[in-house]
Amino acid sequence: MNTNFWQQFKGPVFSLAPMEDVTDTVFREIVLRMSAPGKLHVVFTEFSNVEGLNHPVGRDRVSERLIINNSELLLLRKMGVKLIAQIWGKTPEIYHSVTQWITTNYPFDGIDINMGCPVKKIVKQGACSALIGQPGLAREIITAVKEATHLPVSVKTRTGIKQHVTEEWINTLLETNPAAIILHGRTQQMQSDGEANWEEIRKAVELRNAINPGIPIHGNGNVFSYQEGLERVQSTGVEGVMVGRGIFKNPWFFDPERLSVSKEERVQKLLEHTRLFEETWSGKKNFNILKRFYKIYINHFDGAGKIRADLMEATGFKDVYHYFGSQ
Ligand SMILES: Cc1cc2nc3c(=O)[nH]c(=O)nc-3n(C[C@H](O)[C@H](O)[C@H](O)COP(=O)(O)O)c2cc1C
Repeated sequence: MNTNFWQQFKGPVFSLAPMEDVTDTVFREIVLRMSAPGKLHVVFTEFSNVEGLNHPVGRDRVSERLIINNSELLLLRKMGVKLIAQIWGKTPEIYHSVTQWITTNYPFDGIDINMGCPVKKIVKQGACSALIGQPGLAREIITAVKEATHLPVSVKTRTGIKQHVTEEWINTLLETNPAAIILHGRTQQMQSDGEANWEEIRKAVELRNAINPGIPIHGNGNVFSYQEGLERVQSTGVEGVMVGRGIFKNPWFFDPERLSVSKEERVQKLLEHTRLFEETWSGKKNFNILKRFYKIYINHFDGAGKIRADLMEATGFKDVYHYFGSQ
């Protein structure tokens, strides 16, 4: 039986990108609730460090990133959306034991290895996008993770470190036979600046077609509407598109038929999000994390600026409920 779900989708696949301090179980559930059936296919956890997860003390803290509320799990199963744990680190043996531990203890549908994060303090350790410059170690890591789990193992990466080396790097990855490759069309040096280069993504698809056509490639970078995502699929031949910051511009991203959202509904979503956050994280995560999300709901209606400014003054959940006259 083929257990690689990445190969089983019909039509273009849309995923919500892994984003630290954003794609926890709460936000994923809220996005799932706002998505139309069949429009969102895969969601990811925030990246979780394997060395931290392997540490007797660090594990408690880092494993918060892997928490899945039952209500999210039910919704995922009902909608047929896959949930992937994204991990990062530098030691193949630790990847191996942590992947076994995750596979045994959590209901994830897949494991993704982060070979794309460009943050200085991380690449200095030789991890994430620094692995583009260490193909031998990258291969060892992928092999170690694949050996540790029956789940499909994908890799999320970039097109190079200082310059695009897409063909050489994707060739290395294809040799390890990952379940899928998610390619962000920027180098490490570009961070999140400038335009993502979809021409490089197209080159990766062409190479894949020539040497290992069974491995899905998903493109990532600057997709700000569903229609734009579909156009990228058409023009590059990728099997899917991953959406990161597009969800901040429009939390209803995965309900493309919906053209406008009333102020009342925006406030309802904000309150729904706040309640689920409080139920899940009260005493564990800082309330201020929510303010990033308030900015995305309270938009596109008269008077939104004033409400946003008022909300930035809130010091706790009660302030927000009180502000909107909600219990
Ligand atoms: C706030 C934030 C946090 C991120 N955290 C992660 C992460 O944990 N793992 C990862 O692979 N990429 C992470 N990324 C990168 C995104 O997954 C994505 O590759 C990038 O934002 C480009 O896509 P976009 O142009 O659609 O936003 C993060 C991006 C943002 C904006």
